[in-house]
Amino acid sequence: TPRVFSGAQPSGNLHLGNYLGALRNWVGMQGADYETIYCMVDLHAITVWQDPSELRKATRELCAGYIASGLDPDKSILFNQSQVPEHAQLAWIFNCVARMGWMQRMTQFKDKAGKNAQNASLGLFAYPALMAADILIYHATHVPVGDDQKQHLELTRDIATKFNHDFGVDFFPLTEPVIQGVAARVMSLRDGSKKMSKSDPSDMSRINMTDDADTISKKIRKAKTDPEALPSETDGLEDRPEARNLVNIYAALSDQSAEQVLAEVGGKQFGEFKPMLADLAVSKLSPISTEMARLMGEEAEIDRILARGAEKARAIATPILQQTYEIVGMVGAK
Ligand code: TYM
Repeated sequence: TPRVFSGAQPSGNLHLGNYLGALRNWVGMQGADYETIYCMVDLHAITVWQDPSELRKATRELCAGYIASGLDPDKSILFNQSQVPEHAQLAWIFNCVARMGWMQRMTQFKDKAGKNAQNASLGLFAYPALMAADILIYHATHVPVGDDQKQHLELTRDIATKFNHDFGVDFFPLTEPVIQGVAARVMSLRDGSKKMSKSDPSDMSRINMTDDADTISKKIRKAKTDPEALPSETDGLEDRPEARNLVNIYAALSDQSAEQVLAEVGGKQFGEFKPMLADLAVSKLSPISTEMARLMGEEAEIDRILARGAEKARAIATPILQQTYEIVGMVGAK
């Protein structure tokens, strides 16, 4: 069976972009057709400063978010990255395969490092090699992510290709990105040209999975829009990024295409559409936030799920790391 791997960083809140662009699709792939492995990537999170107690809390909260969104620890392997040391071990090998120039081209590094790249951590620069290791330590074939991870997944293929070529083996598979749906790129509620992100200083720019109903409604009511009515066809969303974003969110939450949504709401003003969207968002998200809050009260249970997940993950990762070491020429690798 094909094997699916994906992950999210335990830094800040899980938001609607994470849910619609990634998590929801992860849940959809869970089941008979795929073996599914989902990680909380704490080693990636610390490429920028994380307060230790906040990191611990965010990791457990992310696990609660995974489960509340529908991931089932009996159907998927759920674990945190640092509990499976093979990720960091394979990442070192990949640091020696990947080239400086490849890393320099990564737009996420440029965005996150900002103007003063000399002051960014070495880990932030090497981030994509660790990400390739996350995926390839399981020989995963499919990686469901939002649109912003596309470049990192291309680099993962480049690393696999170069490793196989350098050592004359056919060992690491070329992973397929799975980027699906109208919500592969959910935009900020304050600026339709920026993606919704946990690092945006304005909390009004995003809907957090832990927001209560009043907060969700308020954020949607205050979302930036233009003064025109909604068009009845998607052509009419051209050059209207904020309108397009709200329509896409509505479509994703109601399992429809943007065309279907516009057939229903075309001609309406935002004054009428926004309350519809708020009601829909609250009805879909509040069961998740209620369940997250409940799980957050069960810390021991979360830790037990993570430990069990790590054990299952290691059972797959250990032999693949051993074989990698053997290919590379390390003495002691069987
Ligand atoms: P992260 O933690 O930023 O985001 C987790 C997932 O959410 C998606 N996402 C979005 N989708 C749509 N619209 C948005 N506004 C939006 N914002 C975030 C992301 O695309 C992602 O799928 N580098 C990864 C974590 C990672 C990983 C991996 C992913 C580490 N190793 C291996 C896949 C495979 C990241 O920072 O995701």
